[in-house]
This record gives sequence, C-alpha cells and structure tokens, in this order.
Amino acid sequence: MAQEMTRWATADTEWFTHDRFGMFIHWGIYALPARHEWVKQREMIRDEDYQRYFDHFYPDLYDPEAWAREAKNTGMRYFVVTTKHHDGFCLWDSDLTDYKVTNTPWGEDLIAPMVEAFRAEGMKVGFYHSLIDWHHPEFPVDGLHSRRDDRDYIEANSDRDIARYREYLHGQTRELLTGFGKIDIMWFDFSYPNRVWGGKGREDWGSEELMAMVRELQPGIIVNDRLEIGGDLKTPEQYQPRSWPEVDGEPALWEACQTLNGSWGYDRDNLDWKPTDMLVRMLVDTVSKGGNLLLNVGPNARGELEPRALERLRGVGEWMRLHERSVRGCTASDLTPPPDCRYTQNGDRLYLHLFGWPFKHVHLEGLADKVEYAQLLNDASEIRMQVIDPDQQAQNTTMGGVPRGTLTLELPVQRPPVEVPVVELFLKG
Ligand code: GLC
Repeated sequence: MAQEMTRWATADTEWFTHDRFGMFIHWGIYALPARHEWVKQREMIRDEDYQRYFDHFYPDLYDPEAWAREAKNTGMRYFVVTTKHHDGFCLWDSDLTDYKVTNTPWGEDLIAPMVEAFRAEGMKVGFYHSLIDWHHPEFPVDGLHSRRDDRDYIEANSDRDIARYREYLHGQTRELLTGFGKIDIMWFDFSYPNRVWGGKGREDWGSEELMAMVRELQPGIIVNDRLEIGGDLKTPEQYQPRSWPEVDGEPALWEACQTLNGSWGYDRDNLDWKPTDMLVRMLVDTVSKGGNLLLNVGPNARGELEPRALERLRGVGEWMRLHERSVRGCTASDLTPPPDCRYTQNGDRLYLHLFGWPFKHVHLEGLADKVEYAQLLNDASEIRMQVIDPDQQAQNTTMGGVPRGTLTLELPVQRPPVEVPVVELFLKG
C-alpha cells in the first residue's frame, strides 16, 4: 500500500528515506550584521566595509556538542552545514584562500569539530557549498552580485576569468570531500541561468566534471539538484509541495528545506517565527508526501542557538519523543486522508495525523475492514472504531449518510496535549 520510490544509480538513499529529518545550519560572518545571510548583496556592501565582520568574528560560546545534542533531541538524524555561503567566507582552513575562519580572531577551523560532534551523536554529515561567491576576485560580476550597480567596479573587474573561479570551486570541493571523512550529502547552491543579464549555470560551474569528482571521491553520496544537471535530490525551498514531487513522471527523492523565521542566517530583528505546531505539521506533511524535512537554524555570532530557536527545537523534540515512529521509516500512503489530516505509513502501521480536532468522530474512507486495532500514539490509549451501516437513517443521535467502506473512529472531546495528535492504526495482514 505504501508508494515505492525511484532509486538513483550511485546515491545511498536508504538511511535518508528512513531518517526523514535533518538540521540545516547557516553560519558565517553574516551573523555579525545579523540582518540575513544575503546582507552583503541586499545592502550592496563593499568588500572593504564587509571586512569588519571578518575582523570581529570570534564565536567564544561555540559548542558543537551542544548543537549536536539539541539536533538529536529534536529528532534530527543528519545535518547540513554551510561550509561557504554566497559571501565567500570559508568555515574551514582551506589552502586555496585567505578568506577563511583561521584568519579571523577565532583562528580555528569550525567544521572538523562540528562534524565530529554530530557523528558522535550518530548523525550523518552534509556539506552545503555555495557556487556563488561575492568575494572571489575571479567570480564575474553579474546581476546578482553585491556590486551589481557599481559601474566603476564592474569596469575595473571586467576581465575576471570564470575558468579560474571554476578551478577554485572544484579545488575547494575536493578539499571538503577528502579532509573530513565520509560525507553523506553534498548541497550545492545555486544555479541561476537564463537571466536577462546572463546568469550562471552548468557551464560556469563545470557541473558534469564537478559531479563526477564528487561521486568518485564519495561513492554513495547524495547530491542535490542545484548544479543545473539534475542530481539525486529535489530541494523545494520555503514552501510545502502540494504532492510528491516527480522527475520524469516518477516520484523523486526530495527534501523540503525550511527556516524557523524566513531567514537562513541569524536575523536578530526578524519576528516572523513559525509556531512549534506549524513546524510539526510541516514535518508530517513532508513525510506524508514521501519527503524529508531539513529544518534550519542560524546560530548567532557568539556561536549559540538563540532562545527563540531552542524553544521551537525542543517543542518539536517533545512531539518526536512520543511520535517518532509515525515519521521515522514512514512514507506516503495510497489512501486519501480525511480533510485536514495526513497519513504516514510504515508497512502495516498507518498513522493518522489530525491537524484539526473534530468533535467526536473522524471517518476514514476505504478502511472499514482493514484495521484490527487503533490507539492514540501519545499515550497508547485505545480509540474505538465502528463501521456505520451506510443505509442507516439519521435520526436524533443516530448518524446516517456514511459512505460504504468507511471506518469511523470515536475521538475523546479532550484534544490530547500534543502539537499534533496521532492515531496509530494497526492494519490487518
Ligand atoms: C537560497 C538562499 C540561500 C540559502 C539557500 C538554502 O538559495 O538564497 O541563502 O542558503 O536557499 O536553501
């Protein structure tokens, strides 16, 4: 009854579709201005002015073990960290640039201790790496660049050589995939071809060679779909797909990447925080459509996850503590859930997630003779079931008009005290 998924040639996706839930980490010197990770581009900040953030980067409260513990307790089982974002700042000690953390007051690589800490919690490791670079001297200035409106700067830099930037990109990718042990996901970001002012894509990045090198260095690695040559993983961003995304008519391997407040990087004055129950519904909605959720945090410049983020991670974590098996190892069901509900399924276990809490009854079409037992998952208390005679006439307290083949569940008036109540249905063999 559960829907099957297309397997890609080399990528090892078994663990990925089992684990379902990961942490995205956007961190870098943009945490100092604390106005979104695109601050350099949005405010068209010159390098010499942006330098003050490099010169003051000193995350003295950085504790990757604490991050890893928070992620694990939230129910996440892998993480993806920004090794370099669009501003070009590198979080590891790359031999190919001076624009790196080891040259800041902090003076040490941030990536190795992070990878170690998350691995120690049994979590898989992913690297986000920006294809875009608003700092590199050979990255041609285009309509997206932080100096896009500076005519003199563009003129003075008109001889930039993308081939040399490509070499840099491939060289750093090789460093990341040979210097930190087994890497499970490579998350490149992003191609923007076909813009009126040109844009950049597969030719600029040398995507085919890059992909071939990535697969050669890390067999089994999962590579996302932002090199403009397909990839293993569809990555819808900041929206929930209406249904299971497809590639060539086949259900695709996919992962929704979502923020806690609309910004990926730490954004101090941003108040657009999603409530915890919405985050749980996004996780459930994603798995009910056969996907993974990569939920982002933007640590601040002291190296901490801020209280507004911790509160939500711990809220999701409390729900996962009780409802993990309705997510882990689950996928979409062929059955259509009632309105305002979702189904996730793992073999003969079907999970009904109730986004609303209806009075007394919920009707499950097509399940009349398919369920041998039902319980609330948070406390394993029985949920009574009945199959109402479709020909029964409604009269006083007697319900009528229930379609043939429907299983009716009797719900308590009191909504269970959890972000999203779940009924676990034990399907007959
Ligand atoms: C977009 C944003 C970028 C972010 C990425 C994460 O590409 O521009 O800042 O890192 O999405 O999905």
